[in-house]
Amino acid sequence: MASKRPVVLYGASGFSGRLVAEYLREYNVPFIAAGRNKTKIQDVMNHVPGIETADYERAEVANTVDELASLFTGAKVVCNTVGPFIYYGPTVVEACLRAGCHYVDISGEQAWHRDLAEKWGEKFAAKGLLLAPAMAFMSAPSDVAARMCMEAANIDTLEILTMFDGIPTFGSTQTIFAVIQTEGYYLEQNRYKTWTRAKGYEVVVPGYIRTQLALSWGGFPHPVWYKNHPQVANVRSFGGLLNRQIMEGVLATEKNFEETIRPLPKEEQERKLAEMANAVQSGTPPRENSREQRTIDVVVGRGSTDFVQCVLFGTCCYRQTGLMQAYAAHSLTLGPPRQTGFASPAAAFGHRELLRALEGHGLSKARLTT
Ligand SMILES: NC(=O)c1ccc[n+]([C@@H]2O[C@H](COP(=O)([O-])OP(=O)(O)OC[C@H]3O[C@@H](n4cnc5c(N)ncnc54)[C@H](OP(=O)(O)O)[C@@H]3O)[C@@H](O)[C@H]2O)c1
Repeated sequence: MASKRPVVLYGASGFSGRLVAEYLREYNVPFIAAGRNKTKIQDVMNHVPGIETADYERAEVANTVDELASLFTGAKVVCNTVGPFIYYGPTVVEACLRAGCHYVDISGEQAWHRDLAEKWGEKFAAKGLLLAPAMAFMSAPSDVAARMCMEAANIDTLEILTMFDGIPTFGSTQTIFAVIQTEGYYLEQNRYKTWTRAKGYEVVVPGYIRTQLALSWGGFPHPVWYKNHPQVANVRSFGGLLNRQIMEGVLATEKNFEETIRPLPKEEQERKLAEMANAVQSGTPPRENSREQRTIDVVVGRGSTDFVQCVLFGTCCYRQTGLMQAYAAHSLTLGPPRQTGFASPAAAFGHRELLRALEGHGLSKARLTT
């Protein structure tokens, strides 16, 4: 198996998958473009700019532990872009562990992160493997910004906001609806506290006169990353689209879910949420435009006497996602991660390194205020 390509990109036919492929090609990382439909994968790969110079092959694989593990065996890294991860993630992680590969994904669902930290982190660590979900726009750049704040000031409290302009893909819309059923937590004195369900928050976003509407959206991964952190004790994370109409729609759905769907059995809840997501988005959005699809991450840090703010002004959230996956895969093909087992993107790859990758591609820029 020595000649096997070192990276498996699972979900290569998706909107995010094709962007990961684009950046893997830029980093000259040979990869296997895998998914459930080989014809669709080839069709999507044919539209990746410059793909003719990439070293890749296609693989059709069923979403079972046995088939995935057999495909992964001999590779070094699995980049998983098949979500919602609370539904499809466990099979891929189990296969990855069995095959002895590092695992990175583009999830943002806190419930998935809690599951990974509690059930899988030690098993990956025992094999010297990395388990790093959320190598994606939501929430890797804000992880970088949080660490910039911790470096700059004596703080123990973080408030984190991630907002973006854009058209959510089919998979993203499914995930936005899927997380509604999950419990979201923030961190208070290193203890999980439950977010109030179906509640919106007016947020102040640098660069905008009007306030924006954000949600706790299942809690985000940061509270899981800082649960046992010796410096940071309190973490609240919010986010959403820079589009009030869409956010009001999501909030209305959350309220409707609490009143009419939560009393139903779990399978029925999932079915209804998927139906609602299908009604909102069924197609693939156009390629992002850096003059239109802007992003912003705001992290505010507070200690007893210190204050710090780090803002990342960025663009093209899906491209940021593609870049960070490829950066992770590239790094892992060259050497070990900074940490094994369950780790945040910045803990695994370094916050300054990730920021340099984003800034170097013109996708984000940090501003720090103390
Ligand atoms: N955290 C972040 O910043 C971030 C950013 C981007 C995306 N995401 C998440 O990543 C996931 C994918 O997003 P996307 O934008 O790439 O969506 P997408 O364009 O709809 O692509 C979804 C991919 O998953 C595959 N897939 C779906 N169900 C599957 C199943 N049952 N078995 C095997 N493959 C399956 C699809 O295969 P087919 O083509 O064969 O249908 C496709 O390759 C979503 O959960 C989204 O929320 C997160």
